[in-house]
Amino acid sequence: MSEISQAKPDYNYKVVRQFTIMTIIWGIVGMSLGVFIAAQLFAPALNFDIPWLTYSRLRPLHTNAVIFAFGGCALFATSYYIVQRTCQVRLFSDKLAAFTFWGWQAVIVAAVATLPFGITTSKEYAELEWPIDILIALVWVAYIINFFGTMVIRRVSHIYVANWFLGAFMLTVAVLHIGNSMALPVSFFKSYSIYAGAVDAMMQWWYGHNAVGFFLTAGFLGMMYYFVPKQAGRPVYSYRLSIVHFWALISLYIWAGPHHLHYTALPDWTQSLGMVMSVILFVPSWGGMINGIMTLSGAWHKLRTDPVLRFLIVSLSFYGMSTFEGPMMAIKTVNALSHYTDWTVGHVHSGALGWVAMVSIGSVYHLIPHLFGQKSMYSTKLVNVHFWFATIGVVLYIVAMWMSGVLQGLMWRAVNADGTLTYSFVESLEASKPFYVVRFVGGCFVVAGMLIMAYNTYKTVRAPKGSLAAEPAGQAA
Ligand code: HEM
Ligand code: HEM
Repeated sequence: MSEISQAKPDYNYKVVRQFTIMTIIWGIVGMSLGVFIAAQLFAPALNFDIPWLTYSRLRPLHTNAVIFAFGGCALFATSYYIVQRTCQVRLFSDKLAAFTFWGWQAVIVAAVATLPFGITTSKEYAELEWPIDILIALVWVAYIINFFGTMVIRRVSHIYVANWFLGAFMLTVAVLHIGNSMALPVSFFKSYSIYAGAVDAMMQWWYGHNAVGFFLTAGFLGMMYYFVPKQAGRPVYSYRLSIVHFWALISLYIWAGPHHLHYTALPDWTQSLGMVMSVILFVPSWGGMINGIMTLSGAWHKLRTDPVLRFLIVSLSFYGMSTFEGPMMAIKTVNALSHYTDWTVGHVHSGALGWVAMVSIGSVYHLIPHLFGQKSMYSTKLVNVHFWFATIGVVLYIVAMWMSGVLQGLMWRAVNADGTLTYSFVESLEASKPFYVVRFVGGCFVVAGMLIMAYNTYKTVRAPKGSLAAEPAGQAA
C-alpha cells in the first residue's frame, strides 16, 4: 500500500454535516406540507380562505421543498462525502462548499418567500422567478467546480462509478435549468418564457422529465452505488453492469420527455419517439436495480438485523416498481387512461417516496454516526420503527392512488348507449374521496417516521463523542 493511501486525508465533513441535518429538517417541512395539501383534497375548508394557504400555492411549495430542499440537500451531502472518500482527498475548495450550502438554503428560503404569494413562472418544477433562477445557476456552477475540481486533484487513479452518476446529474441539471429558465424579465417578480406554444411545452417536459431522470434518478443512483455496498459490506455485484447501466441510462433518458405530452399539439412522431425511448428505458433501469439488490449476494442475512440496509434495499424495490410502471404509462393507449388521474400521482410517489426518500434516509442513517464521531445511531430500534412507518406509509399512499386513479380513468371514459357520459366529474371526485383519506393517513405515517429520525439524530449528535458503540447484531430486529 502506498504512503498516500495510508495517511488519512483531512476531509471537509463540516459541509456534509450541514447538508445532512438540513436534509432531515427540509424533509419534515416538505412532507408535512404534502400531508397538509393531501388533507385539503378531502377537506377544502382547510385553506381557511387565506390566499397563501390555498392548494394551488402550497402544492408547488411541497414539490419544491421535497425535491430541491430535501432531495437536493441529501444529494449535496452525499456527493460531497462520496467524492472525498472515493478520491481520497479533501474537497477542492472549502469556500465554494460553504457558498453552495448557504446559497442553496437562500434559494429554498426564497422559494418559501415567493410561492405562497403567487409569485411563480407556472412551469412545473421550475416555478421560481428569474432572480432565484440566477442564484440557482450560480450555486450549481460552484457545486460543479467543487465536485469536478476534487476529482481532478484525486489521489487514486480510478474514478468510482458513483462519481460518474453524480457528475452526470450535476452537468445535466445545469443544462436543463439554464435551458428551460430562459425568460424575459418584465419586473423583479415577473418574467415570460422565451419559448412559445408547443415549443414551450416541449422544452418544459424535456426539462421536467430529465429533472426526474437526472435529479431524482441519476443523482440518487450515485448515492445507491456508494451506500449499498458500504452498508452491506460487499463490493458492487457487477462493476461491468454498472458501467453499461450508466451509459445506457444517460443516453436514453434525455429522449423520453414527450411521454408527458401524449395526445397534445406536439407532433405525433415526437410523441411516438418519446414512447419508444421510455419503453426501452426499462432495461437499464432494471439493470441498475438488479445490480444494487444483487450486491447483497452472500449477505442477505444482514437484512434481518440491519434496518439501514432495509431502507436501502426496499428503496431499490420501489425504484424497480416505478421504472416498470413508468414505461407502461408511457405507452399511448395506457396513458390515455392514466393521464390526468391519480395513477400519475401514485407513480410519482412510488418513485419519490419509495425510491428517492428511502434511499436518502438509509444513506443519512449510514452517514450520521460517521459524521458525528459515533459507531452507531443513538437507537437502532428507532431506525427500525422508522423503517416500518415509512414502508407502511408509502404502501398506503401508492395503493390508494392507484385505485383512485384507475377508478377515475374508467369513470371518465364510461359512456351510455346514447353516447352521453355515464358519470359527471363531481361523481368521480366523490368516488375518490375515501382514497384521499387513506393517502393522508399514509402521509402521516411517513412524517411520523421523519420525526422519529429527527429525535434519533438529535440524541446521536448530542451524545459524547464515541459513547455510542455499535449495537450487537440482532438487537434491532
Ligand atoms: C408525507 C409524504 C408526502 C405526501 C403526503 C405527499 C402528498 C402530495 C400531494 C397531496 C400531492 C398533490 C397531488 C395532486 O395534485 O393530486 C403531491 C404532489 C407531488 N409530490 Fe408529494 N407527498 C409526499 C412526499 C413527497 C416526496 C418525498 C416527494 C419527492 C421526493 C414528492 C414529490 C411530489 C411531486 C413531484 C408531486 C407532483 C406530482 C404530479 O404533478 O403528478 N412528494 N404530493
Ligand atoms: C423508466 C423510468 C420511468 C419512465 C419511463 C416514466 C414515465 C412516466 C410517465 C409516462 C409519466 C406520466 C406522464 C403523464 O401522463 O403526464 C410519468 C410521470 C412522472 N414520473 Fe415517471 N417514469 C419513470 C420513472 C420515474 C421515477 C423513478 C420517478 C421519481 C423518482 C418518476 C417521477 C415522475 C414524476 C414526478 C411524474 C409526474 C410529472 C408531472 O406530470 O408533474 N418517474 N413518468
